[in-house]
Amino acid sequence: MSRIFSGIQPSGELHIGNYLGAVQNWVRLQEGRDATFFCVVDLHALTGNYEPSDLRRRRHEMAVSLLAAGLDPERCTLFFQSGVPQHAELAWIFNTVTPLGELERQTQYKDKSARQESVLTGVLTYPVLQAADILLYHATRVPVGEDQVQHLELSREIARRWNHRFAAETPYFPEPQPLLTPVRRLMGLDGQAKMSKSLGNTIGLLETREQIWEKLRPAMTDPARIRRTDPGNPDVCNIYSLHKAFSDEPTQAIAAANCRGAAWGCIDCKKVLAESMETVLVPIRRRAADIGARPSYVTDVLEEGAKRARTIAQDTMRQVYERMGLTD
Ligand code: AMP
Ligand code: TRP
Repeated sequence: MSRIFSGIQPSGELHIGNYLGAVQNWVRLQEGRDATFFCVVDLHALTGNYEPSDLRRRRHEMAVSLLAAGLDPERCTLFFQSGVPQHAELAWIFNTVTPLGELERQTQYKDKSARQESVLTGVLTYPVLQAADILLYHATRVPVGEDQVQHLELSREIARRWNHRFAAETPYFPEPQPLLTPVRRLMGLDGQAKMSKSLGNTIGLLETREQIWEKLRPAMTDPARIRRTDPGNPDVCNIYSLHKAFSDEPTQAIAAANCRGAAWGCIDCKKVLAESMETVLVPIRRRAADIGARPSYVTDVLEEGAKRARTIAQDTMRQVYERMGLTD
């Protein structure tokens, strides 16, 4: 069976960048509880500086966001990584076949370590845990944003190395491939960098119409369009990239034409975008409110998911131990 796996950091509420870049695709790809696995990677989250009480809140909010976004516990297995100890166990195993040089070459590691005086080992071995996440379930398809493509290359390398050493005849682990969405990398509202919580340039998936408008109004557009009468170029405008994600095709075409012809000012274009966003976001907000009204729902769903995930994970570890000489 070809499985799908993906993970997301417990960063609290989803923002429209990780929603459009990854989670919207997860919602579309749900194929059944035994075929589609989604994980809130709370063990990965320990590699940054954090407060335990804050992490507790963020992992819960992420789970709420994912269910509100449309993950359906009847059609996928959703769980917290820490609820399945085999993730950490397989990561240790993979540490023993991963060359240090491969880890030091990872862009994310280079970026993070350049910004810190003392670098935690977990930042270096982060992608080894990620490979374990995926391969524990023998997943072959991994829906992610573009920033994760390099980590997936490393997952394939780890699968090859482990297979070469312990399952040379018939490869045991498959080589997982990324599934990208059309929104590979959504820019933040500043138009300067990737939309990301740590940069404070996001729109939260559950924000109100008023909060969203407060952020859209001053957001960056085509910088060459200074006066209202200047023709704009939608291809370089971040607001237009949001139209492509939220508006229907006729509205996209109108927005592009009215930008090029200067028939709309940027504020007109943003007003239309805000309406399109409402259409997409209202049902998501409504589901979030329903979930909020059922206190133990989230915990129950994710514990149930972890139980199913553990069954598969235990089986994988048995096979791995068997092949590595760790059984009698
Ligand atoms: P994160 O929220 O950083 O854990 O990322 C979760 C998923 O969303 C990953 O697959 C990322 O590649 C994707 N993602 C995060 N931010 C963006 C963005 N600004 N544009 C597109 N995809 C994103
Ligand atoms: N590293 C991913 C991110 O920052 C999260 C992640 C952890 C992941 N394990 C994964 C993504 C396994 C896909 C598959 O977004």
